[in-house]
Amino acid sequence: MKTDNTVWHDHQVTQAQRAQQKNQRPCLLWYTGLSGSGKSTIANAVDRQLFQLGNHSYLLDGDNVRHGLNGDLGFTDTDRIENIRRISEVGKLFVDAGLIVSTAFISPFQADRDTARKMFEQGLFIEVFVDTPLAVCESRDPKGLYKKARSGEIKHFTGIDSAYEAPLQPQIIVKTAQSDVQTCARQVIDYLKQQGFIN
Ligand code: ADX
Repeated sequence: MKTDNTVWHDHQVTQAQRAQQKNQRPCLLWYTGLSGSGKSTIANAVDRQLFQLGNHSYLLDGDNVRHGLNGDLGFTDTDRIENIRRISEVGKLFVDAGLIVSTAFISPFQADRDTARKMFEQGLFIEVFVDTPLAVCESRDPKGLYKKARSGEIKHFTGIDSAYEAPLQPQIIVKTAQSDVQTCARQVIDYLKQQGFIN
C-alpha cells in the first residue's frame, strides 16, 4: 500500500542517457489476442530479430510470468485486471531502463489496455493486435486448452466463456492465419524502423 511516507527519488542516470547508450528509442510492444493466436510466437520472432540487429530488448510472456511474479493470479476478471496492471508496471520499469519491451498477454479488456497506454508517453505504447479468428486458434489448440474449455474442464476461458475485446485502434495488426511468422515479425520491425525506434 502506498503511504504518505514514501518519497519518489529521481535517479542520476536518466532514461534518455540509457536510451542513448543503447542507440535506440525505448518503447513497449503490447501484443494482445486470443490464446493460441500466435502472440508469443510473433513476439519471440521480433525479439530475436531485435537482438540480431544489435538492439536491447526483453520479452515478458503471459505463461512465463504466471509461473513467477503473477503465480498467485487466476483467470477471474479481477485477477486478469491485476495481471495486466502488474505487467504494465514492470513494462514501464523496463522501458525506463532503456529497453524495447514486448509483452505477450491475452489482455482481453480494452479498458485495461487503455490504462496501460496512459502510463506511457505518447507513441511509446504500441498495441499489436494478433488478429487470429477463434476458429483458427481453436483448431490449433497447441496446449489442448480449448478442448478442456469446451468440455467444461476449464472455466472462464477467453473466447469460450470469458470475453475478448478486440482492440479498437491498434497500431499494428498481424494476421497469423494469412501470413507466416517471418512476415508478421517483419511488419513489426518495419513499424519500429518507420517510427524511428530502431535504425
Ligand atoms: S490474461 O487474460 O490474464 O492476459 P495471460 O496471457 O496472462 O491471460 O494467460 C493466458 C494463458 O494462460 C493462455 O495462453 C493459456 O495457456 C493459459 N490459460 C489457462 N487458463 C486460461 C483461461 N481460463 N483463459 C485464458 N487462458 C488460460
